[in-house]
Amino acid sequence: MTTISEKIREGYQTRFKRFGGRAQSLSWANMGAAHQRFRQMWTDVDYSNKSVLDVGCGFGYLGKFLTKKFENVTYTGVDIVPEFIEKAKLRRPNLTFFVRDYLFDPMPEKFDIVVASGILNGDVPHNMDYRKKAIKTMFDHANEALVFNMLGSHPQPVQPAQKNVWYADSLEVLTYCMSLSSKVIFKAHYNSKDFTIIIFKSKEKAS
Ligand SMILES: C[S@@+](CC[C@H](N)C(=O)[O-])C[C@H]1O[C@@H](n2cnc3c(N)ncnc32)[C@H](O)[C@@H]1O
Repeated sequence: MTTISEKIREGYQTRFKRFGGRAQSLSWANMGAAHQRFRQMWTDVDYSNKSVLDVGCGFGYLGKFLTKKFENVTYTGVDIVPEFIEKAKLRRPNLTFFVRDYLFDPMPEKFDIVVASGILNGDVPHNMDYRKKAIKTMFDHANEALVFNMLGSHPQPVQPAQKNVWYADSLEVLTYCMSLSSKVIFKAHYNSKDFTIIIFKSKEKAS
């Protein structure tokens, strides 16, 4: 495992010791903050009859909603924090979870839809490169679409006092996504400092 992932994992493990199975362990202020993002992820995408990979699944909250809202979803969740995966398995024994540093060591197989909520918010070395590489890795493993969210907006906000969080320039992220596919949905209406992007596989190359 790389140093970046180790740092991320240790940060979440410290939070888990303090907050246990609550949303705060996942760096969400409360469950409402997580839901606000999830709602953007399940509008505009039909997950019925799809295989779905949730990268950085935490306790598998999104898996719970997607499998309730849509028919016949084959959900798999991966996370680098073993404590989160243990809780996820206990809470949702009918879903598949395992521990993996997906961004640095993805499984070879592809899934119809790859989703990632809140995993690209941390302040890491080379923030924008880290995010672009993660987006590329996840999109390469999707048959149909990648759905993710991130903290930031355009123009890029002043960075927060919290040292572990970094705000991206959403326009730079969007431009990068549009270099991967011409079929992109961008949503920035639900929160002044968070955005959601859905990238669909496109047969035509973006030019
Ligand atoms: C803000 S939490 C969100 C958890 C979950 N997606 C949710 O919305 O409830 C971000 C999660 O991403 C995980 N994560 C970060 N980097 C990862 C990586 N390289 N591979 C797998 N999981 C990762 C963290 O361990 C953490 O559980």
